[in-house]
Amino acid sequence: MHENIFLIGFMGAGKSTVARTLHNEYRMRLIEMDEQIEAQEGRSVSRIFVEDGEAYFRALETKLLLDLANENNTVVSCGGGVPMRGENIAAMRACGRIIYLSAAPETIYGRVKNSHTRPLLEGNMNVEYIEALMKKRLPKYLEAADLTIETDGKSALQICREILADM
Ligand code: S3P
Repeated sequence: MHENIFLIGFMGAGKSTVARTLHNEYRMRLIEMDEQIEAQEGRSVSRIFVEDGEAYFRALETKLLLDLANENNTVVSCGGGVPMRGENIAAMRACGRIIYLSAAPETIYGRVKNSHTRPLLEGNMNVEYIEALMKKRLPKYLEAADLTIETDGKSALQICREILADM
């Protein structure tokens, strides 16, 4: 049995909610990558993008994943861009099971439309953009995933049960 769970998927796919449910209901340790990076840097993801650029943020993500190699019984809610780097996929695979949470672009849009915490969606807040970026990323999400779960219309608890049934 794998000891850690990495939740991957597009922004707004429900990774954070499912991770929190695994933490609360199944006593797994919780790591929210964006939050951890913000705490380390003392500034928001948006500010990191503005002040140091996306490449700097991506390097922080990779460093954090490599630092997780010795974790046990931990669920990691990954930033939506994490599986775009092969080295990130390798780091996750080395110490856990990778679960891709998929959701329809319309569902994603409904969840993220009023938020301003995601720099990639600023000025691009529409279903068409979300669908296009999702299409571009899909091969990497599928390449990384040990298991894909369609989340539309499902509760967080239901999704957790599907994840654990497959461990
Ligand atoms: C990103 C997703 C965000 C955050 C950053 C970049 C992406 O995390 O890491 O804004 O490239 O998809 P969430 O998926 O938790 O929103």
